[in-house]
Amino acid sequence: MTAGHAASLPGDLAAVLNAAWQLLEAAAGDIAAPLRTPVVIGLADNVPDGRVMVLRECHPSTAQLIFHTDLRSSKAKNLQRDSRVAIVGYDATRALQLRLQGRAHFQTDEAAIDAAWRATSPTARRNYATHLPPGARLESAGDGQPESIDDATARRNFARMIVDIAHIDWLNLAATGHSRAVFDASAGGWTGTWRVP
Ligand SMILES: Cc1cc2nc3c(=O)[nH]c(=O)nc-3n(C[C@H](O)[C@H](O)[C@H](O)COP(=O)(O)O)c2cc1C
Repeated sequence: MTAGHAASLPGDLAAVLNAAWQLLEAAAGDIAAPLRTPVVIGLADNVPDGRVMVLRECHPSTAQLIFHTDLRSSKAKNLQRDSRVAIVGYDATRALQLRLQGRAHFQTDEAAIDAAWRATSPTARRNYATHLPPGARLESAGDGQPESIDDATARRNFARMIVDIAHIDWLNLAATGHSRAVFDASAGGWTGTWRVP
C-alpha cells in the first residue's frame, strides 16, 4: 500500500490523495503547520476518546503516521486493547479538513525507539519522567515532574506509536465550491471517489 498506488486513480483523485500525503508529510516537519497537531481518537471501553497529539513523522510510502506518547497513558493502554483510531486535522489556511482512520500499534524495535528518544529535546523528555503516570491524581496543580530526571526510566515510558492509515476523507471548503473525496486502502492500492461535501 503506497501513495504510489495513487497512479491507479483518475488523475484528479490521484492528485488529491498525493496532496493529502504531502501536506501530512510537510506538517510533521513544520512546528507551525496546523495539521501537525491533529486530534487522535481511540476507544476507551467503547467510549470515543480524543486528544491532540503532535504528528512526528509521516511516511506516505507505507501510509504510516508516527506519534510519541507515554506507554503508561490511558490512550496507550486503550489502543493496545483496541487499535482502531480516527485522526482529524484542520488546516484553516487551506480550509481543509482531513479525517483519517487506521490501526495503531506500538513500535517494538528498541533501536528505532532509542533513535527517536535521542532525537527528542531535553524538555520533551521530562514529560516521560513523572513518577506517577499521566492522568494520575495530584493534590494540587503541577506537572508531576521530579527535580532530577532519570533518563533511563523516562526512556522506558517513551513510546513510538505507529498508525497504519487505511481511510482518508478529504474536505476542502471554497467559495467557488466545496469538494470532498474519500479514499480506501487495500492490498491492491488506494481506491477513491468524489463525494457530496
Ligand atoms: C498541542 C498539544 C500537543 C500534544 N502532543 C502530545 C503528544 O505528542 N503525545 C501525547 O501523548 N500527548 C500529547 N498532548 C497531550 C494529550 O492531548 C493528552 O492530554 C495526554 O496525552 C493525555 O491523554 P490520555 O489521557 O488520553 O492518554 C498534547 C497536547 C497538546 C495541547
